[in-house]
Amino acid sequence: MPDLDAAPRPLTVAGLFAGIGGVELGLKAAGMQTKLLCEWWEPAQAVLEHHFPGVPLHDDIQTLKALPDVDVVTAGFPCTDLSQAGRTAGIHGEASGMVKHLFELLEDASPRWVVIENVRNMLALDRGTAMEYLVSEFERLGYRWAYRLVDSRFTGVPQRRQRVIFVASRTEDPRGVLFADDAGERPESDYREDAFGFYWTEGNTGLGWAQDALPTLKGGSGLGIPSSPAMWIRDAEPGRAIVTPRIEDAEVLQGFPRGWTEPALKRAKPGVRWKLVGNAVTVGVSRWVGRRLLTPGEYDETGQIILPKGMRWPTAAWGTPDERWAAAVSLWPERSSYQHLLDVVDTNEAPPLSLRATAGFHGRLLRSRLRYPQAFSDALKLHAERMAEPAPVA
Ligand SMILES: C[S@@+](CC[C@H](N)C(=O)[O-])C[C@H]1O[C@@H](n2cnc3c(N)ncnc32)[C@H](O)[C@@H]1O
Repeated sequence: MPDLDAAPRPLTVAGLFAGIGGVELGLKAAGMQTKLLCEWWEPAQAVLEHHFPGVPLHDDIQTLKALPDVDVVTAGFPCTDLSQAGRTAGIHGEASGMVKHLFELLEDASPRWVVIENVRNMLALDRGTAMEYLVSEFERLGYRWAYRLVDSRFTGVPQRRQRVIFVASRTEDPRGVLFADDAGERPESDYREDAFGFYWTEGNTGLGWAQDALPTLKGGSGLGIPSSPAMWIRDAEPGRAIVTPRIEDAEVLQGFPRGWTEPALKRAKPGVRWKLVGNAVTVGVSRWVGRRLLTPGEYDETGQIILPKGMRWPTAAWGTPDERWAAAVSLWPERSSYQHLLDVVDTNEAPPLSLRATAGFHGRLLRSRLRYPQAFSDALKLHAERMAEPAPVA
Protein backbone atom coordinates (compact mmCIF):
# COMPACT_ATOMS: atom_id res chain seq x y z
CA MET A 1 0.00 0.00 0.00
CA PRO A 2 1.39 3.45 -0.80
CA ASP A 3 1.89 5.67 2.24
CA LEU A 4 -0.50 8.50 1.45
CA ASP A 5 0.72 10.60 4.40
CA ALA A 6 4.34 10.49 3.29
CA ALA A 7 5.79 13.87 2.33
CA PRO A 8 6.29 14.21 -1.44
CA ARG A 9 9.81 13.38 -2.58
CA PRO A 10 11.78 16.62 -2.91
CA LEU A 11 12.86 17.50 -6.42
CA THR A 12 16.52 16.78 -7.09
CA VAL A 13 18.97 19.09 -8.84
CA ALA A 14 22.17 18.87 -10.89
CA GLY A 15 23.88 22.27 -10.85
CA LEU A 16 26.13 22.87 -13.87
CA PHE A 17 28.35 25.98 -14.03
CA ALA A 18 27.44 26.24 -10.36
CA GLY A 19 29.67 29.20 -9.42
CA ILE A 20 29.01 29.86 -5.75
CA GLY A 21 25.64 28.12 -5.85
CA GLY A 22 23.22 31.05 -6.18
CA VAL A 23 20.80 28.86 -8.12
CA GLU A 24 21.19 25.81 -5.94
CA LEU A 25 20.87 27.80 -2.69
CA GLY A 26 17.59 29.32 -3.88
CA LEU A 27 16.27 25.93 -5.02
CA LYS A 28 17.29 24.46 -1.67
CA ALA A 29 15.36 27.22 0.12
CA ALA A 30 12.36 26.19 -1.99
CA GLY A 31 12.81 22.60 -0.74
CA MET A 32 14.99 20.88 -3.36
CA GLN A 33 18.07 18.71 -2.96
CA THR A 34 21.27 19.10 -4.98
CA LYS A 35 22.72 15.78 -6.13
CA LEU A 36 25.61 17.01 -8.29
CA LEU A 37 27.57 20.22 -8.74
CA CYS A 38 29.84 21.00 -11.67
CA GLU A 39 32.29 23.90 -11.43
CA TRP A 40 35.91 24.11 -12.51
CA TRP A 41 37.14 27.35 -10.93
CA GLU A 42 38.98 26.67 -7.68
CA PRO A 43 37.75 29.62 -5.56
CA ALA A 44 34.16 28.80 -6.50
CA GLN A 45 34.78 25.12 -5.74
CA ALA A 46 35.99 26.10 -2.26
CA VAL A 47 32.71 27.94 -1.63
CA LEU A 48 30.61 25.03 -2.92
CA GLU A 49 32.54 22.44 -0.91
CA HIS A 50 31.96 24.47 2.24
CA HIS A 51 28.25 25.14 1.77
CA PHE A 52 27.19 21.92 0.02
CA PRO A 53 29.19 19.33 1.98
CA GLY A 54 28.79 15.78 0.73
CA VAL A 55 27.44 16.81 -2.68
CA PRO A 56 29.65 15.37 -5.45
CA LEU A 57 31.53 18.17 -7.20
CA HIS A 58 32.77 17.56 -10.74
CA ASP A 59 35.24 20.05 -12.17
CA ASP A 60 35.11 20.44 -15.97
CA ILE A 61 31.81 20.06 -17.80
CA GLN A 62 33.78 18.90 -20.84
CA THR A 63 34.69 15.71 -18.97
CA LEU A 64 31.29 15.09 -17.37
CA LYS A 65 30.18 11.85 -19.00
CA ALA A 66 26.51 11.86 -18.00
CA LEU A 67 23.96 13.67 -15.88
CA PRO A 68 22.58 11.88 -12.82
CA ASP A 69 18.90 11.01 -12.80
CA VAL A 70 17.55 14.32 -11.44
CA ASP A 71 14.40 16.41 -11.80
CA VAL A 72 16.07 19.76 -12.46
CA VAL A 73 19.23 20.61 -14.39
CA THR A 74 20.51 24.16 -13.86
CA ALA A 75 23.08 25.86 -16.06
CA GLY A 76 24.05 29.49 -15.52
CA PHE A 77 26.60 29.15 -18.28
CA PRO A 78 29.49 31.65 -18.52
CA CYS A 79 28.43 35.04 -19.76
CA THR A 80 31.89 36.52 -20.37
CA ASP A 81 31.34 36.44 -24.13
CA LEU A 82 27.83 37.84 -23.81
CA SER A 83 27.81 40.59 -21.23
CA GLN A 84 28.55 44.20 -21.96
CA ALA A 85 31.12 44.09 -19.17
CA GLY A 86 32.94 41.19 -20.83
CA ARG A 87 34.01 40.50 -24.36
CA THR A 88 31.34 40.02 -26.97
CA ALA A 89 32.49 37.01 -28.96
CA GLY A 90 28.97 35.63 -28.66
CA ILE A 91 27.37 32.33 -27.82
CA HIS A 92 30.09 30.35 -29.61
CA GLY A 93 32.90 32.22 -27.84
CA GLU A 94 35.34 30.14 -25.86
CA ALA A 95 33.54 30.65 -22.54
CA SER A 96 29.87 30.87 -23.52
CA GLY A 97 30.36 28.08 -26.06
CA MET A 98 30.55 25.77 -23.04
CA VAL A 99 26.76 25.67 -23.20
CA LYS A 100 27.01 23.18 -26.08
CA HIS A 101 28.12 20.61 -23.50
CA LEU A 102 24.79 21.11 -21.76
CA PHE A 103 23.00 20.06 -24.93
CA GLU A 104 25.27 17.05 -25.39
CA LEU A 105 24.46 15.93 -21.85
CA LEU A 106 20.72 16.52 -22.38
CA GLU A 107 20.74 14.18 -25.42
CA ASP A 108 20.95 11.25 -23.00
CA ALA A 109 19.02 12.63 -20.02
CA SER A 110 15.37 13.22 -19.15
CA PRO A 111 15.11 15.88 -16.47
CA ARG A 112 11.67 17.35 -15.90
CA TRP A 113 13.08 20.86 -15.99
CA VAL A 114 16.11 22.75 -17.28
CA VAL A 115 16.79 26.19 -15.80
CA ILE A 116 19.24 28.67 -17.34
CA GLU A 117 20.17 32.17 -16.22
CA ASN A 118 22.09 34.75 -18.19
CA VAL A 119 22.68 38.44 -18.84
CA ARG A 120 20.15 40.69 -20.55
CA ASN A 121 22.53 41.16 -23.45
CA MET A 122 21.92 37.54 -24.41
CA LEU A 123 18.65 38.75 -26.00
CA ALA A 124 20.36 41.31 -28.24
CA LEU A 125 23.69 39.71 -28.97
CA ASP A 126 24.62 39.09 -32.61
CA ARG A 127 21.19 40.42 -33.56
CA GLY A 128 19.53 37.63 -31.62
CA THR A 129 21.51 34.65 -32.89
CA ALA A 130 22.67 33.64 -29.38
CA MET A 131 19.06 33.22 -28.26
CA GLU A 132 18.12 31.59 -31.53
CA TYR A 133 20.83 29.01 -30.92
CA LEU A 134 19.60 28.26 -27.39
CA VAL A 135 15.96 28.08 -28.37
CA SER A 136 16.53 25.96 -31.46
CA GLU A 137 18.71 23.49 -29.54
CA PHE A 138 15.88 22.99 -27.04
CA GLU A 139 13.32 22.71 -29.82
CA ARG A 140 15.51 20.14 -31.59
CA LEU A 141 15.48 18.09 -28.37
CA GLY A 142 11.67 18.37 -28.17
CA TYR A 143 11.47 20.84 -25.29
CA ARG A 144 8.94 23.57 -24.66
CA TRP A 145 10.62 26.72 -23.43
CA ALA A 146 9.89 30.07 -21.84
CA TYR A 147 12.05 32.91 -20.67
CA ARG A 148 11.58 36.13 -18.79
CA LEU A 149 13.78 39.11 -18.03
CA VAL A 150 13.53 39.90 -14.31
CA ASP A 151 14.94 42.63 -12.05
CA SER A 152 16.47 41.31 -8.82
CA ARG A 153 14.78 44.14 -6.93
CA PHE A 154 11.55 42.12 -7.17
CA THR A 155 13.02 39.87 -4.46
CA GLY A 156 13.45 42.87 -2.14
CA VAL A 157 17.22 43.33 -2.48
CA PRO A 158 18.41 46.86 -3.29
CA GLN A 159 20.34 45.91 -6.42
CA ARG A 160 19.14 46.78 -9.92
CA ARG A 161 20.05 43.66 -11.86
CA GLN A 162 18.31 42.46 -14.99
CA ARG A 163 18.80 38.83 -15.89
CA VAL A 164 17.14 36.38 -18.26
CA ILE A 165 15.65 33.29 -16.63
CA PHE A 166 15.04 30.51 -19.12
CA VAL A 167 13.05 27.36 -18.27
CA ALA A 168 12.54 24.37 -20.57
CA SER A 169 10.78 21.02 -20.26
CA ARG A 170 9.75 18.08 -22.40
CA THR A 171 6.89 17.06 -20.14
CA GLU A 172 5.73 20.18 -18.30
CA ASP A 173 4.59 23.69 -19.21
CA PRO A 174 7.30 26.27 -18.38
CA ARG A 175 4.81 29.12 -18.75
CA GLY A 176 3.23 28.13 -15.43
CA VAL A 177 6.64 28.61 -13.81
CA LEU A 178 7.75 31.90 -15.31
CA PHE A 179 4.55 33.74 -16.13
CA ALA A 180 2.13 32.85 -13.34
CA ASP A 181 3.22 35.80 -11.20
CA ASP A 182 3.20 39.42 -12.29
CA ALA A 183 3.24 42.18 -9.70
CA GLY A 184 4.34 45.01 -12.01
CA GLU A 185 7.09 47.53 -11.35
CA ARG A 186 7.57 48.94 -7.87
CA PRO A 187 6.10 52.44 -7.36
CA GLU A 188 8.66 55.26 -6.88
CA SER A 189 7.37 55.61 -3.33
CA ASP A 190 9.01 52.27 -2.43
CA TYR A 191 12.43 53.90 -2.78
CA ARG A 192 13.99 56.30 -0.29
CA GLU A 193 15.97 59.38 -1.32
CA ASP A 194 18.79 59.03 1.18
CA ALA A 195 21.26 56.89 -0.81
CA PHE A 196 22.13 56.43 -4.49
CA GLY A 197 24.37 53.86 -6.16
CA PHE A 198 26.66 54.58 -9.11
CA TYR A 199 29.66 53.15 -10.92
CA TRP A 200 32.70 55.29 -10.06
CA THR A 201 34.58 53.59 -12.91
CA GLU A 202 32.13 55.13 -15.41
CA GLY A 203 31.11 58.74 -15.85
CA ASN A 204 31.63 59.27 -19.57
CA THR A 205 28.55 57.78 -21.18
CA GLY A 206 26.74 56.34 -18.19
CA LEU A 207 26.62 56.41 -14.42
CA GLY A 208 24.84 53.24 -13.42
CA TRP A 209 22.70 55.58 -11.33
CA ALA A 210 20.32 53.81 -8.97
CA GLN A 211 18.05 55.29 -6.31
CA ASP A 212 18.04 53.42 -2.98
CA ALA A 213 19.92 50.61 -4.73
CA LEU A 214 23.25 49.70 -6.22
CA PRO A 215 23.65 49.13 -9.94
CA THR A 216 24.36 45.57 -11.09
CA LEU A 217 27.22 43.91 -9.27
CA LYS A 218 29.45 42.64 -12.07
CA GLY A 219 31.70 39.62 -12.37
CA GLY A 220 34.14 41.58 -14.51
CA SER A 221 34.65 45.05 -15.88
CA GLY A 222 36.08 46.42 -19.10
CA LEU A 223 39.41 46.48 -17.31
CA GLY A 224 39.03 42.86 -16.27
CA ILE A 225 39.10 43.80 -12.58
CA PRO A 226 35.78 43.41 -10.84
CA SER A 227 35.21 46.29 -8.45
CA SER A 228 32.50 47.51 -6.20
CA PRO A 229 30.10 50.22 -7.28
CA ALA A 230 30.04 53.25 -4.99
CA MET A 231 27.21 54.99 -3.19
CA TRP A 232 26.36 58.54 -2.24
CA ILE A 233 24.81 58.90 1.20
CA ARG A 234 23.03 62.22 0.96
CA ASP A 235 23.06 63.30 4.58
CA ALA A 236 26.32 61.76 5.75
CA GLU A 237 29.06 63.88 7.27
CA PRO A 238 31.83 65.04 4.92
CA GLY A 239 34.32 62.26 4.22
CA ARG A 240 31.62 59.59 4.81
CA ALA A 241 29.23 60.56 2.01
CA ILE A 242 30.91 58.69 -0.87
CA VAL A 243 31.70 55.12 0.12
CA THR A 244 32.06 51.67 -1.40
CA PRO A 245 30.14 48.78 0.14
CA ARG A 246 32.17 45.86 1.42
CA ILE A 247 32.04 42.39 -0.06
CA GLU A 248 29.80 41.16 2.77
CA ASP A 249 27.29 43.88 1.84
CA ALA A 250 27.49 42.73 -1.77
CA GLU A 251 26.73 39.17 -0.68
CA VAL A 252 23.53 40.39 1.00
CA LEU A 253 22.66 42.43 -2.12
CA GLN A 254 22.76 39.12 -3.99
CA GLY A 255 20.61 37.37 -1.37
CA PHE A 256 23.42 35.38 0.27
CA PRO A 257 24.23 35.34 3.97
CA ARG A 258 27.17 37.60 4.92
CA GLY A 259 30.49 35.80 4.52
CA TRP A 260 29.18 33.25 1.99
CA THR A 261 32.29 33.53 -0.22
CA GLU A 262 34.82 33.58 2.62
CA PRO A 263 35.90 29.97 1.91
CA ALA A 264 37.32 31.24 -1.42
CA LEU A 265 40.12 32.91 0.55
CA LYS A 266 41.67 29.45 0.95
CA ARG A 267 42.33 29.40 -2.79
CA ALA A 268 42.45 33.02 -3.97
CA LYS A 269 43.06 36.66 -3.13
CA PRO A 270 40.22 38.69 -1.53
CA GLY A 271 39.40 40.58 -4.76
CA VAL A 272 38.17 37.34 -6.33
CA ARG A 273 35.14 37.39 -4.06
CA TRP A 274 33.77 40.34 -6.07
CA LYS A 275 33.94 38.27 -9.22
CA LEU A 276 32.27 35.30 -7.55
CA VAL A 277 29.44 37.43 -6.17
CA GLY A 278 29.06 39.46 -9.37
CA ASN A 279 28.75 36.27 -11.43
CA ALA A 280 26.09 34.75 -9.21
CA VAL A 281 22.34 34.48 -9.51
CA THR A 282 20.44 36.48 -6.90
CA VAL A 283 19.25 33.85 -4.45
CA GLY A 284 15.72 35.25 -4.17
CA VAL A 285 15.33 34.91 -7.94
CA SER A 286 16.13 31.19 -7.90
CA ARG A 287 13.99 30.70 -4.78
CA TRP A 288 11.02 32.11 -6.70
CA VAL A 289 11.79 29.86 -9.69
CA GLY A 290 12.08 26.90 -7.29
CA ARG A 291 8.72 27.58 -5.68
CA ARG A 292 7.08 27.75 -9.10
CA LEU A 293 8.81 24.58 -10.33
CA LEU A 294 7.27 22.79 -7.36
CA THR A 295 3.86 24.41 -7.83
CA PRO A 296 3.36 25.88 -11.28
CA GLY A 297 0.55 28.43 -11.55
CA GLU A 298 -1.77 29.59 -14.31
CA TYR A 299 -0.54 31.50 -17.35
CA ASP A 300 -2.84 34.29 -18.46
CA GLU A 301 -2.42 34.58 -22.24
CA THR A 302 -3.90 38.08 -22.41
CA GLY A 303 -1.73 40.42 -24.45
CA GLN A 304 0.58 37.82 -25.94
CA ILE A 305 1.51 38.27 -29.58
CA ILE A 306 2.93 35.87 -32.11
CA LEU A 307 6.71 36.02 -32.44
CA PRO A 308 7.91 35.41 -35.99
CA LYS A 309 11.41 33.96 -36.39
CA GLY A 310 14.08 36.62 -36.81
CA MET A 311 12.18 39.26 -34.77
CA ARG A 312 13.96 41.05 -31.91
CA TRP A 313 13.68 38.96 -28.78
CA PRO A 314 11.21 40.58 -26.37
CA THR A 315 11.67 40.66 -22.60
CA ALA A 316 9.52 37.54 -22.19
CA ALA A 317 8.56 34.80 -24.63
CA TRP A 318 7.62 31.14 -24.91
CA GLY A 319 7.62 28.53 -27.58
CA THR A 320 7.40 24.93 -28.70
CA PRO A 321 8.91 23.31 -31.78
CA ASP A 322 5.73 24.57 -33.59
CA GLU A 323 5.04 28.11 -32.35
CA ARG A 324 6.60 31.12 -30.65
CA TRP A 325 4.89 33.92 -28.69
CA ALA A 326 5.95 37.10 -26.90
CA ALA A 327 4.39 37.19 -23.43
CA ALA A 328 3.02 40.37 -21.86
CA VAL A 329 4.59 40.22 -18.41
CA SER A 330 6.74 42.71 -16.50
CA LEU A 331 10.23 42.35 -15.04
CA TRP A 332 8.57 42.09 -11.64
CA PRO A 333 6.98 38.71 -10.89
CA GLU A 334 6.55 39.67 -7.24
CA ARG A 335 7.26 42.68 -5.05
CA SER A 336 8.77 41.32 -1.86
CA SER A 337 9.16 43.82 0.94
CA TYR A 338 12.03 46.16 0.02
CA GLN A 339 15.28 46.25 1.97
CA HIS A 340 16.56 49.82 1.76
CA LEU A 341 20.17 50.34 0.73
CA LEU A 342 21.09 52.04 4.00
CA ASP A 343 19.56 49.16 5.96
CA VAL A 344 21.76 46.64 4.12
CA VAL A 345 25.12 48.36 3.73
CA ASP A 346 27.07 48.78 6.94
CA THR A 347 27.93 52.43 6.32
CA ASN A 348 30.16 52.73 9.39
CA GLU A 349 32.46 50.08 7.96
CA ALA A 350 32.18 50.97 4.25
CA PRO A 351 35.48 52.46 3.07
CA PRO A 352 35.36 56.00 1.67
CA LEU A 353 36.05 56.20 -2.07
CA SER A 354 39.69 57.19 -2.53
CA LEU A 355 40.75 60.68 -3.57
CA ARG A 356 42.06 59.40 -6.89
CA ALA A 357 38.88 57.49 -7.75
CA THR A 358 36.63 60.37 -6.63
CA ALA A 359 38.57 63.06 -8.49
CA GLY A 360 38.82 60.92 -11.64
CA PHE A 361 35.11 60.16 -11.64
CA HIS A 362 34.10 63.74 -10.85
CA GLY A 363 36.30 65.06 -13.66
CA ARG A 364 34.72 62.66 -16.16
CA LEU A 365 31.27 63.58 -14.94
CA LEU A 366 31.87 67.32 -15.36
CA ARG A 367 33.18 66.79 -18.90
CA SER A 368 30.29 64.49 -19.82
CA ARG A 369 26.84 65.34 -21.11
CA LEU A 370 25.24 63.19 -18.44
CA ARG A 371 22.45 64.51 -16.25
CA TYR A 372 22.88 64.27 -12.49
CA PRO A 373 21.75 66.19 -9.41
CA GLN A 374 23.90 69.24 -8.60
CA ALA A 375 23.98 68.10 -4.96
CA PHE A 376 25.72 64.90 -6.10
CA SER A 377 28.44 66.85 -7.89
CA ASP A 378 28.84 69.08 -4.82
CA ALA A 379 29.14 66.00 -2.59
CA LEU A 380 31.85 64.54 -4.83
CA LYS A 381 33.81 67.80 -4.72
CA LEU A 382 33.55 68.02 -0.94
CA HIS A 383 34.50 64.37 -0.57
CA ALA A 384 37.61 64.83 -2.73
CA GLU A 385 38.61 67.88 -0.67
CA ARG A 386 38.14 65.95 2.55
CA MET A 387 40.13 62.98 1.25
CA ALA A 388 42.95 65.34 0.21
CA GLU A 389 43.34 66.63 3.77
CA PRO A 390 46.17 65.03 5.73
CA ALA A 391 44.94 62.39 8.17
CA PRO A 392 44.69 63.81 11.73
CA VAL A 393 47.64 62.86 13.93
CA ALA A 394 46.49 60.42 16.58
C1 LIG B 1 27.96 32.89 -14.72
S1 LIG B 1 28.87 31.84 -13.66
C2 LIG B 1 27.60 30.95 -12.85
C3 LIG B 1 27.22 31.53 -11.53
C4 LIG B 1 26.31 30.67 -10.72
N1 LIG B 1 25.02 30.47 -11.34
C5 LIG B 1 26.15 31.27 -9.33
O1 LIG B 1 25.04 31.54 -8.89
O2 LIG B 1 27.17 31.51 -8.68
C6 LIG B 1 29.53 30.62 -14.75
C7 LIG B 1 30.41 29.62 -14.05
O3 LIG B 1 30.75 28.58 -14.99
C8 LIG B 1 32.04 28.11 -14.63
N2 LIG B 1 32.60 27.39 -15.78
C9 LIG B 1 33.05 27.90 -16.95
N3 LIG B 1 33.51 26.92 -17.74
C10 LIG B 1 33.34 25.76 -17.07
C11 LIG B 1 33.63 24.40 -17.38
N4 LIG B 1 34.22 24.06 -18.53
N5 LIG B 1 33.31 23.47 -16.48
C12 LIG B 1 32.75 23.83 -15.29
N6 LIG B 1 32.47 25.09 -14.93
C13 LIG B 1 32.76 26.06 -15.81
C14 LIG B 1 32.79 29.39 -14.27
O4 LIG B 1 33.93 29.12 -13.49
C15 LIG B 1 31.72 30.19 -13.54
O5 LIG B 1 31.81 30.01 -12.16
